[in-house]
Amino acid sequence: MREQYRSEDFTEKDLAADPMEQFAHWFRQVAGGGALHEPNAMVVSTADSRGRPSSRTVLLKHYDARGFVFFTNYGSRKGRELTANPYVSLLFPWHPLARQVIVTGTAVRVGREETVAYFRTRPHGSQLGAWASDQSAVIGSRQELVDRYEELAARYPEGEKVPAPPQWGGFRVVPDAIEFWQGHENRLHDRLRYVRESPEAGWHVERLCP
Ligand SMILES: Cc1cc2nc3c(=O)[nH]c(=O)nc-3n(C[C@H](O)[C@H](O)[C@H](O)COP(=O)(O)O)c2cc1C
Repeated sequence: MREQYRSEDFTEKDLAADPMEQFAHWFRQVAGGGALHEPNAMVVSTADSRGRPSSRTVLLKHYDARGFVFFTNYGSRKGRELTANPYVSLLFPWHPLARQVIVTGTAVRVGREETVAYFRTRPHGSQLGAWASDQSAVIGSRQELVDRYEELAARYPEGEKVPAPPQWGGFRVVPDAIEFWQGHENRLHDRLRYVRESPEAGWHVERLCP
């Protein structure tokens, strides 16, 4: 299991001035290379108000200068934890390229219009699934879930407009640090981290020991 990573050095002069530009650069390379099935899959870690952590995979649906957006159920475990404690970490595990990106920041709910606009782009079945699932709640059987789905499918046949569920929506993670990790031979990996004191402040870059 001990793999030697072969790759070109990744140095300060290779970095974009802004970390979101750097993220876009790496994301395009990863997505374009075809080596990863879902390059937009990321691990989202949250902590409850007592500091107990939990992690799960979600799909990044949008990113821009403001941050990273994913959609979920606000009543889910992650949704409730982020409501009580907005500090969050995202991790992109791009193992086939010996790369990883780690973001820490603060999660804020996106506007309702942004949620509704994205919800409309989802396939009909996924729209119904969002209504059918009381995400993270305990359920007695799979059949109960299927029954809920079938009821909704009868109420909203294919082609009928499905409204966005009120408890469902997006979070935007506004970053305060973004680390770009590139694996190398002999464990001499590059770790370059952009950090800023606040969303209004400028970014500076620091190199971390691997
Ligand atoms: C590849 C992959 C993509 C996923 N994408 C999402 C997503 O975009 N939104 C979401 O709410 N859950 C997504 N899930 C399910 C979550 O991992 C998780 O099971 C769910 O959100 C409930 O998490 P929670 O109980 O910790 O809140 C995805 C799972 C996998 C494996």
